[in-house]
Amino acid sequence: VPPPPAPQQPFAGPGAGQIAQAASVLAGQAVRTPVIRSAELDRRTGACVVLKAECLQRTGSFKFRGAFVAATRAREAGHRHLVAYSSGNHAAALSRAGRLLGQRVSVFMPYDAPASKVEAARSFGADVRHYDRYEQDRVAMASAYAAEHGGLLVPSADDPHVIAGQATATAELLAEHPDLDVVVVPVGGGGLMAGAVSAVLAAGSQAEVVAVEPVGSDDFVHSLASGQRESVTVGATLADGLQLATIGGLPWEVVRGRVRTAVTVEDDGLRSAVAFLVERVKLVVEPSGAAPVSALLTGTLDLRSARVGVVLSGGNVSPEKLRALLA
Ligand SMILES: Cc1ncc(COP(=O)(O)O)c(C=O)c1O
Repeated sequence: VPPPPAPQQPFAGPGAGQIAQAASVLAGQAVRTPVIRSAELDRRTGACVVLKAECLQRTGSFKFRGAFVAATRAREAGHRHLVAYSSGNHAAALSRAGRLLGQRVSVFMPYDAPASKVEAARSFGADVRHYDRYEQDRVAMASAYAAEHGGLLVPSADDPHVIAGQATATAELLAEHPDLDVVVVPVGGGGLMAGAVSAVLAAGSQAEVVAVEPVGSDDFVHSLASGQRESVTVGATLADGLQLATIGGLPWEVVRGRVRTAVTVEDDGLRSAVAFLVERVKLVVEPSGAAPVSALLTGTLDLRSARVGVVLSGGNVSPEKLRALLA
């Protein structure tokens, strides 16, 4: 009789060595994005805030980090065709990574994904397929397609290589500011948050990781309250990158018990934060990426006197949408 299988340990997230390996995969490929201060933001929040400008990352969001690391690992394993489902930024990031590494990329994007994000994925050579985010099971669709065509599914957050790549954003921030008390990140599938938690642990930092979600997609707030991974029915929000029903299973294992605070932001606050970042910080940040600044500016997150790191996670907003947001 074979011995019973050992009970599976929860995924602990990438350690210091794996984050360093991801950083070396990204060296010369990803931008080491600047960390920016704003005296006005400090004044309004009473905190000392440093902004990691991932809106200036290749393909316009931190998603390039995880996508490029995962695509590199896939290529090492012989995969020539990558498949993804994404509201936009992961699709563009994986498309770019695949092109750089000579892999074919097929992406499933919602019909209502911003046209500029669909165009970005196409411009990087991806084969774009559409789904209805409110009606269709995108995971099942993309998985069936990958199985049929011999492609490798690369999730946008629920993947150890993606999480290791995302961790490098917070690792760079902590390398410049080792004494942060708090790191604030927006949450969709939870890859950025799981990466942030992993980077904090790997750096031996005491920083607390705080999550921000839009009200229309506040599954993580519910998950923290119940202690289990919860799903919600997603509602409309300006933060299209955060519009997910639940975070991934692996991110949940990493952050569970380690992230204790999650807050929500509304569209009005997102609009004001995007405008603040354009006017006062001179950065174009999309609503999803501006969510943490929105939580700080509205006082939903009161971090007075704390040293706060914020990941401005992306800047992919079309001129037309930006104009409407600033109007
Ligand atoms: C700009 C931006 N910020 C944050 C997120 C959320 O990242 P994650 O899915 O890793 O939680 C996304 C996801 O698409 C995004 O596009």
